[in-house]
Amino acid sequence: MSTKLTHEQLLALLSDMSIEEKAGQLAQIPISACMEGVTEPTGPMAEMNLTPEQIALSGSVIAVRKIEAEDCAKVVRDITALQPHHIPPLVMKDVIHGHQTMFPIPLAIGSTFDEGVAEDMGRCGALEGAVSGTHVTFAPMVDVVRDPRWGRVMESPGESPLLCGRMGAAMVRGTRGDDIAAPDRLAACAKHFVGYGISQAGQDYAPIDVSRTELYNTYLPPFQACIDAGVDMMMPAFVGIDRVPCVCNEWLLKDILRDRMGFEGMVISDWDDPRQLINHGVAKDLREVSKLCLEAGLDMDMMSFAHLNCLADLVREGKVDEKKLDEACLHVLALKNSLGLFDNPVKNDSNAYQQEICGSESIRKAAWEAAVKSCVLLKNDGALPLRTGCKVALVGSHADEHAILGGWTLDADTESTKTLLDSFGEDERITLVSPEEADVILLATGENQSDTGEDCSKAHPSLTSEQMAELHSLNALGKPVVLLLFCGRPLIITDALPLCSAVLNVWFPGTEGANAIRALVMGDRNPSGHLSMTMPRALGQVPIHHDRLSSARPWVEGAVYVNRYKDESNFPLFPFGFGLSYTTFAMEASAEGNVVTVKVVNTGSVAGETVVQLYGRMRHGRLIRPDKRLLDWQRVSLASGESCQVRFTVTPDMLRMYDAQGKAVEPEGVCDIAVGQSSAAAYTLTVDM
Ligand code: GLC
Repeated sequence: MSTKLTHEQLLALLSDMSIEEKAGQLAQIPISACMEGVTEPTGPMAEMNLTPEQIALSGSVIAVRKIEAEDCAKVVRDITALQPHHIPPLVMKDVIHGHQTMFPIPLAIGSTFDEGVAEDMGRCGALEGAVSGTHVTFAPMVDVVRDPRWGRVMESPGESPLLCGRMGAAMVRGTRGDDIAAPDRLAACAKHFVGYGISQAGQDYAPIDVSRTELYNTYLPPFQACIDAGVDMMMPAFVGIDRVPCVCNEWLLKDILRDRMGFEGMVISDWDDPRQLINHGVAKDLREVSKLCLEAGLDMDMMSFAHLNCLADLVREGKVDEKKLDEACLHVLALKNSLGLFDNPVKNDSNAYQQEICGSESIRKAAWEAAVKSCVLLKNDGALPLRTGCKVALVGSHADEHAILGGWTLDADTESTKTLLDSFGEDERITLVSPEEADVILLATGENQSDTGEDCSKAHPSLTSEQMAELHSLNALGKPVVLLLFCGRPLIITDALPLCSAVLNVWFPGTEGANAIRALVMGDRNPSGHLSMTMPRALGQVPIHHDRLSSARPWVEGAVYVNRYKDESNFPLFPFGFGLSYTTFAMEASAEGNVVTVKVVNTGSVAGETVVQLYGRMRHGRLIRPDKRLLDWQRVSLASGESCQVRFTVTPDMLRMYDAQGKAVEPEGVCDIAVGQSSAAAYTLTVDM
């Protein structure tokens, strides 16, 4: 294991560095520009007139497409050799849901409600990433998401602050392990800090407006969970809080992130975000950008070159205090030290080893298991699982589609990804035939992979008119139609639902997706995913989520002047936490003191897994609260007829709220408790707090 410098040695190094060197450490440049050797800048670096000297001083490189370990190692060694103190650069990349072996998208990982799966995804992505030359990943994304129009909901574990926090923390643990210097680990970065998911009307890069109370109660807690799990880096969001862009928001980056939340790691901007202050008219030029961001608490500038071009001059001219530069630079050096880079800047420099590890059996197995657990069975009239010997038509835009991986698949080999037809074609229990000849029709359709992720906002998050026409014509054949729904967001399928005998929401399931879907459809495994985001009935309901704040005029059937629509139900098509199985579970809950005990019985004829969910609300309190919020959950696995007991302890931590000043308001009095398999579970118990 690599030797690390002591804090004193780091300080000594810092004090020996020139102002230019220190400013250079705060810059991230594209690795592609250094591939031909760092003395001959190519591509964007050449266009940006960065000199070879500036490249050699840069603290980090970012890779946005596939690179091989040997090329990556060469860039690191070239820059290290030229840097006056031989400080190696950090190599960073978006390893969001796997690296070469893709796991299901994070929204699907949220649907597993299985922290072990999230941890496995972090671990496998880190291993494949590390042997490919990466040091740091820009993950996990823990933006709480409530609006399916926003394409980036696919990158989040979902709408619940608790789910985002617990799954995010698990990804952090899986990614970084106990020691990020280990050859199979990466440093982790929580993003986007904070409120990016609130983007108005679900449009990417749109403004947000959020109260401090909502920040404290809903949007900051997942980041706190990541900090508590040891996350190394934090990325301010493209949006602003209180009209101050996050990237230069001193209140957010200092008072909140450092002082209140106790974050000690490094802060990196999002792509070109500092320079975008000029677009906002918040800064008039790059000099002002550099000063504003540094003074607010930003350490590294990703791709806007403000620090690289302007910061040293600003310090020399006395416009920026050198102490601030030192502080930021120390955060960068400390991360490099934690990664062991001063001792060993390259974790692997062998392409052969990279190839041996990436895509290996155990990683693919973990990706398969994640995909199996993440698919959500939304409807089943008995068409699933398929019977042995039946004739099956497998049709639709995604039947022969390789691109079932979801957004952020920089290193994946999409073309060699198995399609559903590849996988089902291998199954001797069924015969693939045309829809006319079939006993059952599998319609694999939904969004395209390229419709998910950044810059993928949609005003119509539903099936297209062509897809609906296809569904209608298949339905007209009078045979059961099973919809295998591919999506990076909850789609509005209210019109499609009655035309289907069964619906399996498969998200973007990743490299092993086709095999996993086949295992579920054939009944080798039992669906057990539960929705990580509410599925609306109509777009007009958006944003709709399980933990909406209470209304002073709550909806009552048939009443007027209550919280309702004239033309639509208040209820979603499928609530948060919903998911069916091929078996059934009965639950009986009781409370004693603050302990809720749930007896769970598998009352069906096959083994299965479900997610026992605990929801609650304080009956009284001065602040308006959600009517219901997820407080805890447990995944259980039971054979047919088997039962088990699940115990939840209801603690003040679960119900504490914060006022606009961030002051804790302790829960006191009666807490209503609901237990069930979705957020539609009714309140049946109380616990005294
Ligand atoms: C982006 C994203 C961010 C990502 C970064 C680097 O534009 O907003 O999530 O980590 O660029 O690729």
